[in-house]
Amino acid sequence: MTATAPVPVSGRGPAPDTVARLRDQARRTLDGNWREGVRRRDGVPFAYSCPSTPRYRHMWHWDSCFHAIARSALGDHARARAELRTVLRTADPDGFLPHTVFWNHPPGWRRAPFYATRGVVGNVRTETIDPPLLAVAWERVAAADAADPAFAAEALPVLGRHMDWLAHHRDPDEDGLLTIVLPDESGVDDSPKYDPVYGRYAHHRMGSFLLIENCRRYGWDSRRIIRSTELHVEDVLVNTAYALSLQALGRMTGDAHWTRRAARVEDALLDRCLDAGSGLFLDLAGRQEKPVRVSTWTALAPLALPGIPRAVKHRLVEEHLLDPRRYGAAVGIPSVAMDEPAFNPRFDRWRCWRGPSWVNTAWLLVPALRDLGYGEAADRIVGGLVDAALRDGLREYYDPHTGAGMAARDFGWSALLTDLV
Ligand code: GLC
Repeated sequence: MTATAPVPVSGRGPAPDTVARLRDQARRTLDGNWREGVRRRDGVPFAYSCPSTPRYRHMWHWDSCFHAIARSALGDHARARAELRTVLRTADPDGFLPHTVFWNHPPGWRRAPFYATRGVVGNVRTETIDPPLLAVAWERVAAADAADPAFAAEALPVLGRHMDWLAHHRDPDEDGLLTIVLPDESGVDDSPKYDPVYGRYAHHRMGSFLLIENCRRYGWDSRRIIRSTELHVEDVLVNTAYALSLQALGRMTGDAHWTRRAARVEDALLDRCLDAGSGLFLDLAGRQEKPVRVSTWTALAPLALPGIPRAVKHRLVEEHLLDPRRYGAAVGIPSVAMDEPAFNPRFDRWRCWRGPSWVNTAWLLVPALRDLGYGEAADRIVGGLVDAALRDGLREYYDPHTGAGMAARDFGWSALLTDLV
């Protein structure tokens, strides 16, 4: 079934005054969320944008990568570099990089037990990972500004150790694919794709606390956790981010070793996750690596990878991304296919990633659409989100039918729209 025939890249973007208003809004949002200082307990300096107050006051790994990319699109190279250096500083000597760092704002007593930390109180960070995008952001920020030539090189040893940490701790079966042990390690915390895998241990359910307790009991040794339970996933989005970072590291170092490793991840996604029937890339759950058949936007994420054959990508676009029954919505790219029973386009106080359109999804997939020749569709997706953002502000996500802004206000990564226009 063909939803939309490829058309040449249109090159028509939003009008200059629209772009100027959007940039202004993005700058105000990121600057309003800017936090800098030194950590009281050990004097470590920090400078980053929190995603949004009052709900998201900490520093999240992938949010900060997106903030830095948006800032560099806005020409604020100094703060883009400062935010990435802050993320880099949170690395352990062995290359582990945490999902969330609290700096001077540890979670309150009511929320603390639900953070994936070593103990219940007194933590500075979580023991979990987030989609590994630091190398991607580092390359983008370094390339955007020649004023600090040393910047490009300073992260390389840590980024290399980070990639090695991921391979050692999160790919124990050495099939090339990383495993997550908690749903929110993919950044799409409550996605319905995790409902059949995690059941009562899903991120939005009370059992999530028990899952975290179990990981604590294993001392956050992910190899042991993966060996001993069924509650883990070889996640397509995380592995797409991993391959993109390996590629970025390959380009920054000129070392083909990283590029070869990236190709291995792409091959593993093609061999193991690509479902011949639907043409989607499916997560693999548990020790049996059972394909997860709920269709969510992460099944389209490999569109962003250069090594995926164009025929595979065209199928993803025509049969899913632009199909008006699935992801071809009026505004943005819905986080769940509209024909999935779990699809809910509206705000849900307890759960996210169950239908609404998020800006980072468009940021990852729109360049691929343009590259494949679907320029008009790409412009339509970006234009719909820009209209929504100018009307309702930079929100955490938008209703894919109406464009109504929902959840957090002044949400940092929605500033990525400035990188798309
Ligand atoms: C929510 C999102 C996650 C994001 C965090 C901070 O938990 O699901 O992806 O990193 O908020 O914005």
